[in-house]
Amino acid sequence: MEICLFPATLNSWTGDVLVVGMLEGDMEERLKDLEKRCGGSLEQSLKQKMFTAKSGEIASFQLLQSNPSQLVIVGLGEAQKLILDDLRKAAALGARASIGSSGTLGMMLPWETLTSPSAAKAVAEAVRLSLYKDVRFRSAPKPRSTPTKLELIGLPDSAGSDLQAVHPTCAGVELARELVASPPNSLTPASLADTAAQLAHEHGLELKVLERSDCAERGMGAYLAVCQGSDLDPKFIHLTYRPQGPVKRRLALVGKGLTFDSGGYNLKVGTAQIELMKFDMGGSAAVLGAARAIAELRPKGVEVHIIVAACENMINGSAVHPGDIVRAANGTTIEINNTDAEGRLTLADALVYACEQEPDAIVDLATLTGACVIALGDEMAGLWSADEQLAQGLSTAAEAAGEGIWRMPLRSSYKDGLKSLHADLKNTGPRPGGSITAALFLKEFIDDSIPWAHIDIAGTVWSEKGRGLDPSGATGYGVRTLVNWICNQS
Ligand code: BES
Ligand code: MN
Ligand code: ZN
Repeated sequence: MEICLFPATLNSWTGDVLVVGMLEGDMEERLKDLEKRCGGSLEQSLKQKMFTAKSGEIASFQLLQSNPSQLVIVGLGEAQKLILDDLRKAAALGARASIGSSGTLGMMLPWETLTSPSAAKAVAEAVRLSLYKDVRFRSAPKPRSTPTKLELIGLPDSAGSDLQAVHPTCAGVELARELVASPPNSLTPASLADTAAQLAHEHGLELKVLERSDCAERGMGAYLAVCQGSDLDPKFIHLTYRPQGPVKRRLALVGKGLTFDSGGYNLKVGTAQIELMKFDMGGSAAVLGAARAIAELRPKGVEVHIIVAACENMINGSAVHPGDIVRAANGTTIEINNTDAEGRLTLADALVYACEQEPDAIVDLATLTGACVIALGDEMAGLWSADEQLAQGLSTAAEAAGEGIWRMPLRSSYKDGLKSLHADLKNTGPRPGGSITAALFLKEFIDDSIPWAHIDIAGTVWSEKGRGLDPSGATGYGVRTLVNWICNQS
């Protein structure tokens, strides 16, 4: 989809579908202008449809004319309460209403009401991401037409620079969505490594893949325990983005990469929705999606390391037993009292490896705990960090991206729950506060001198019904936050 500005007024705009955002109280004035352009008695028709411009309301009209032949009016609520996310939601609603049309989609929103400089970018992202549809696994996808061009009407030319990041960022989000949605017989540790290789090849990144024997040499006993019951070989992926010119900051992104999580001998039963556990590589999808975006945006001054310990958690005669004691790469011994708490075992070795790269900050993303879903639902990820500046930087980046995040406590006394009779640690504590003990477990593998943040995306990785600009299914959560956070440091 081509995206550009249309800085002139509505009168001179020609296109196929016109989406207009309407504020409560401001209707009469605006409708007069619109009637001039589109004909008809809009006020009457909107009354009939009980449209009052509340946020989330939508009214669509097929017009007896072309250019435009469809008019969509979306409600934005009260002007004083308008936030960037309302524009995103309205843009997504309007864009979805245009499905079936082709040609040019024009979008006219009350840009002047918001002081946010990035409204153009937010709206453009919302349009592209809400029109995305994944048909890779259909034998005969239904034909579907969508507009091929988006024009943002009434914004000054100066807003154009904001739009440069839109396509690279959205391509990253779409890559993440596709990886997460891929079934586990198609997306394996090896195919995830292939995706990384393709990114490296196409976008000039550096790639190192550690095989099982390399990992064994490095003493990654926690990671290797998780995959010892799988027929598929693990792949430890390390991608690097190096900027042109001097490097001022070195960052490491670590993503949980379980291409399937059966639970192991602590098998996922009952309501655990084992069939959804293809999304257990959502953290790795987010960091690879961010890598794709960064490689195209090429921010200056920041070097970024992307690290994924990819594998499957399966059962066979050599699978790890509940009760096994293993040793992680930093020497810590772990009693695996629950084989379903496997993500933290793979992350333990990945985080030790990340620390060895001596970065200025480490951020990990993981579909780590059901407890985080219980605490925050599916619109907010949990954020843990002992570093104020890092936590603030990530929160700001997420806020600007329109991705929900909520700071959670690293309450150190809860570490008692991870005490083991024989080993240094157990991998699972008591059920209450389960997402906090998981974060505390990870912290044991971080070099204290390196600022570190953990983001639990167990709830946000997937949307059962779809919401805002996310279709139902994989959301691609995290990519936009990471891209903002990295670019803010360049
Ligand atoms: N991948 C799951 C976490 C998960 C559960 C993500 C539900 C999304 C939805 C993780 O590996 C897991 O199984 N965690 C256990 C930990 C428990 C055994 C301490 C959980 O949350 O139940
Ligand atoms: Mn698990
Ligand atoms: Zn898992």
